[in-house]
Amino acid sequence: MARLNDNYLKLKAGYLFPEIGRRVKAFTQANPDAKVIRLGIGDVTRPLVPAVVDAFHKAVDDLTRPESFMGYGPEQGYDWLIDTLIEKSYRPLGVDLKTSEVFISDGSKCDCANILDIFDLSNKVAIGDPVYPVYNDTNVMVGRTGEADEKGYYQGIVYMPCTEENNFTPDLPREKVDIIYLCFPNNPTGTVATKDELKKWVDYAIANDAVIFFDAAYEAFITEPGIPHSIYEVEGAKKCAIEFRSFSKTAGFTGVRCALTVVPEEVMATTAKGEKVALNKLWNRRQSTKFNGVSYPVQKAAEAVYSEEGWRQTKEVIDYYMENARIIREGLKAAGITCYGGVNAPYIWLKTPEGMTSWDFFDKLLNECHVVGTPGSGFGPSGEGYFRLSAFGDRENVSAAVERIQRKWGK
Ligand code: MLT
Repeated sequence: MARLNDNYLKLKAGYLFPEIGRRVKAFTQANPDAKVIRLGIGDVTRPLVPAVVDAFHKAVDDLTRPESFMGYGPEQGYDWLIDTLIEKSYRPLGVDLKTSEVFISDGSKCDCANILDIFDLSNKVAIGDPVYPVYNDTNVMVGRTGEADEKGYYQGIVYMPCTEENNFTPDLPREKVDIIYLCFPNNPTGTVATKDELKKWVDYAIANDAVIFFDAAYEAFITEPGIPHSIYEVEGAKKCAIEFRSFSKTAGFTGVRCALTVVPEEVMATTAKGEKVALNKLWNRRQSTKFNGVSYPVQKAAEAVYSEEGWRQTKEVIDYYMENARIIREGLKAAGITCYGGVNAPYIWLKTPEGMTSWDFFDKLLNECHVVGTPGSGFGPSGEGYFRLSAFGDRENVSAAVERIQRKWGK
């Protein structure tokens, strides 16, 4: 009989968001008249902006005519999209990248999981706690860990608590690690790191020959000046960091699928014999073999995000979500609930009232306010006692959810 990958059996029962979906489904089946407001998974609700839709339509039309038809594209993405991204999204930050350093894909979730393909299992990995669950679970899946302990920590991973005490930015690990996952603006806490804080990590990575996986999926939601949008704004980062970015939240592409991963040519890792090899070459090899590129219309739609009109329209949608974030943040504070984030990120990280556990608060909020959020403990043990609300809902729902919470918990 075929043997399975036993590592999958080490995983906790279900991935966080499907588990939430299951509980919400059970509730709505039992209470068909309840008007449930979903601020759980960070999924967008505003439609694609007109400039993007136009480009998308035109590209589909291209596929209908022999003279403009496109078959397989480059596995790495079309140069015209990559060069637009470099020009419009990186150059204004003072970051210069080569076309060959940027890889277009169908999502950051997949990329930050697939990148593990090119690293040996012996690497020591450090992740935040709480954290976007994909970083943890994919390391379990590839076999880098032992079993989880009763708290949910897997043997072999170095967890870096992100708590109120350290302002939700992790301290450097005490033991030497080889791979570090950082996510700023952070999912789930909605907090950001300053350039000085990132510099500390870049210096650590260079001194320890480590690689940083920098997830910048939410960079477009930064509203305050001076907060880095890319790790490459930090001197030396091109020697040690891989950056993941996405169109999902930035431009409403959660269902369309497009992202980018930057692997600078200078980032190296060693072979078993100790020779240094550029990760860019290996990632290119991996993508050429296992991936066939993002569809032409999707890349055309993504390119249009950065046209003058496209960016103006996209920015309006981002501002809309950030106004939602303000409404949630201020509404919760007015109800006496302590919360973080929501200024440079579309997530609000609140402390559960009355010392409730995260899942108790989830059930109470669902049963009594008909509002869905995400329990903090689902993002890791240090998330216990916290709860995440997403600002990606539509305005009416967001305002109604805040009113319901205020009615329930307001003093
Ligand atoms: C979230 O809610 O954390 C995100 O939607 C998950 C994702 O982007 O995969």
